[in-house]
Amino acid sequence: MMALLLALPLDASVVDGGTYDYVVVGGGTAGLTVTSRLSEDPSKRVLFTVALGGPMDWSWLADQNKTIHGRGNVTILSADSFEKPRVIVNYFNVDFDLALHIEGCRLARKIFQSAAMSSLSAGETVPGFQKVPDNSEGGSEEDWAQWVLHDPQFSFGSVAHPIGTAAMMRRSLGGVVDARLKVYDTTNVRVVDASILPWQISAHLSSTIYGIVEKAADFIKSGV
Ligand SMILES: *[C@@H]1O[C@H](CO)[C@@H](O)[C@H](O)[C@H]1NC(C)=O
Ligand SMILES: *[C@@H]1O[C@H](CO)[C@@H](O)[C@H](O)[C@H]1NC(C)=O
Repeated sequence: MMALLLALPLDASVVDGGTYDYVVVGGGTAGLTVTSRLSEDPSKRVLFTVALGGPMDWSWLADQNKTIHGRGNVTILSADSFEKPRVIVNYFNVDFDLALHIEGCRLARKIFQSAAMSSLSAGETVPGFQKVPDNSEGGSEEDWAQWVLHDPQFSFGSVAHPIGTAAMMRRSLGGVVDARLKVYDTTNVRVVDASILPWQISAHLSSTIYGIVEKAADFIKSGV
């Protein structure tokens, strides 16, 4: 989601040459809400820009797997904002994520084999009992790992909620923004979206983002 910021097509022709109290880049949950809060004060001028398609392939960034502890990195490769950054996702670089995922797969299998659910199911098709044979545990760790990590057809799927590319963390740990959402080394650039979450959450992102944005709008309005 940081990419929205990097890909800002700030075409001077659409800006009226005036000055603004706030410039908001990006019109997702966070951008719209923060714009709405900041423009409640009629004395403030807010420029709201939406980064539209263009050569950026947003779905490519959005289509990521979700793991809990794995940390990757995003590297800006060029001053040209339309050049894609290099994104290294590092899924499953922490063993616990795979162990947890396998337990989830086993539980899903168990639920569909239960008396209540089995009559509603036509049987498991993916991965199926050929790829991951059942055993007393619902499939061996080796077979599940082989399927999750290496199956050429279909394996671990994305839930399309990438986060954390501009994490609110200490800089030495790879953080990008401070506790007031300011980008380190800047005086007035803030990132307000799912990229500031330092940690994956176990829920849909939206309600959490609304919470972050309300807080951010308060910081910005009070000048902290
Ligand atoms: C990004 O992650 C990869 C894989 O762990 C690592 O080899 C690389 O050095 C990292 N790059 C940066 C800029 O941290
Ligand atoms: C999801 O993770 C697997 C295993 O690391 C990887 O092979 C696959 O390409 C990833 N899918 C996406 C959409 O990034």
